[in-house]
Amino acid sequence: MDLKTENTAIADESKFSYKRILTGDRPTGPLHLGHYAGSLKNRIRLQDKYETFILIADIQALTTNFEHPEKLKENILLVALDYLSAGIDPDLSTIIIQSMIPEIAELTTFFSMFISINPLKHNPTIKTEAKERGYKELTYGFLGYPVSQTADISVFKADLVPVGIDQLPHIELSRKIIRKFNELYGGKLIEPFALIDKFPRLVGLDGNLKMSKSYGNAINLSDDFDLIKTKIKSALTDKNRIHPSDKGNPEICTIYSYHMAFSNENLVEETEYNCRNGKIGCVKCKDNLFSVIKNLLEPMNERRAYYLKNTDEIWDILIAGTKKAEKIASEVIKEVKDSMKILYFPRS
Ligand code: TRP
Repeated sequence: MDLKTENTAIADESKFSYKRILTGDRPTGPLHLGHYAGSLKNRIRLQDKYETFILIADIQALTTNFEHPEKLKENILLVALDYLSAGIDPDLSTIIIQSMIPEIAELTTFFSMFISINPLKHNPTIKTEAKERGYKELTYGFLGYPVSQTADISVFKADLVPVGIDQLPHIELSRKIIRKFNELYGGKLIEPFALIDKFPRLVGLDGNLKMSKSYGNAINLSDDFDLIKTKIKSALTDKNRIHPSDKGNPEICTIYSYHMAFSNENLVEETEYNCRNGKIGCVKCKDNLFSVIKNLLEPMNERRAYYLKNTDEIWDILIAGTKKAEKIASEVIKEVKDSMKILYFPRS
């Protein structure tokens, strides 16, 4: 999807002085290497630079999993554990549980009064997602999730939203909704910019375009090393290479794309050269990749082991984050209502 060209919703990090980041994930299961390469790694870099809010979007998860709200609690914990293990620092990043901030739902309702449904129906990401999931009819909540996502961003006055390229249509829409809100009511909500994740989502172990839990082609951050080794062994390479001396095409090899995502430049170059010239076999190349991934995950596993022994601490972090978020959201909703002239009297 080449949405990048000339898009005004894309942030230019060098030009502006952004202040507050908001981004999020739906808690639908454990995070995998694709999440790490695509977004987590970036967030870990950004948290040093900006005030960072990360939303565990449990309500948004219900747009596709409304039959099973009972799974959310465990999934929230798993996602938070993955964040903390990966290196999201709770002193630098505020982790929030979406449903614990009712102001988000409130603001979603206000936005939904003036946004028409056509841009939602024609949103390319909504369309693709609906198609992938085989939805014939869309629920109100699913169709409207970009509106609710706009409220996620606005209620914290975030100006920078690091997301994958698939989310860009949503950020464009957010900007339009917020502009309209400000025009209608003289509001002061901030039009955010998207900071597009530089590394696109990883391909799956089976060569499928997307590593995804639902396709069963992912290496989870929480997988143990034996399992990771087995998964790497099973990964699709250049099918035409049978002997190590056969000349390969790294560009069609899953393993090579993982090298590009995780290995240092030297190893990437060496791998490319050796593969093209039939100087390394796939088995050895996979071993090399396994070592790289093992090195990446080892420090994460140390933190994981700590938090697994101290799950109360994870909940404490979530409670503290949500409390901090609550303060900001309640101020912003007051401003919103004030600008709409519906702040009839203060609530205790
Ligand atoms: N839709 C995002 C995703 O599926 C998750 C998300 C929810 C989000 N709320 C957000 C992302 C607000 C950015 C900002 O990846």
